Amino acid sequence: MSRIFIATALLALTGAAHAGPTLFEQIGGEAKLRAVMDDFVTVMEADDRINFTFANIDLTKFKQLLFEQICNLTQGPCQYTGRSMEESHRKINSNDAMFNALAEDLYIAFDRQHVPYRLQNRVVAMLAPMQKDIVKPRSQRAAVGPPR
Ligand code: HEM
Repeated sequence: MSRIFIATALLALTGAAHAGPTLFEQIGGEAKLRAVMDDFVTVMEADDRINFTFANIDLTKFKQLLFEQICNLTQGPCQYTGRSMEESHRKINSNDAMFNALAEDLYIAFDRQHVPYRLQNRVVAMLAPMQKDIVKPRSQRAAVGPPR
């Protein structure tokens, strides 16, 4: 068996023959994504548009679950162990502006970790379809808490 054959077979086995690096790898892998999550929570906690919704939650757990979710979505080696977006946000009175605020905070965190903007956009594009499960229609929102 020639060396070329072995190399080709190995590449095919690992899927590397046609697949480039995953989005997770392009971002910088686990250490980078965890650093982004740390920065995200810091930015989000200082953001009066949304921080009150996180006032009584376990942020370490939240950070871990968000890490798992983004890791999994970007083809990283992770399973998401949290609840569905619909279930976990059912009691949160969020609106479109709050959803956008959270996305903005995520962009800031990615910037702080020098993740290229085009990769940030790819992540946010994966999260955008979740908006319909997270944000309630206006008619179902309770009239409590800023902002309207
Ligand atoms: C794309 C946007 C979002 C993503 C990907 C996301 C992701 C997550 C994840 C993975 C969890 C943990 C689920 C679990 O506990 O099992 C969670 C919980 C939570 N999210 Fe979001 N979220 C988003 C938008 C929002 C928005 C807009 C708000 C409010 C401003 C929000 C507030 C919360 C809160 C307060 C919790 C904790 C719920 C609890 O522990 O009971 N999230 N989110």
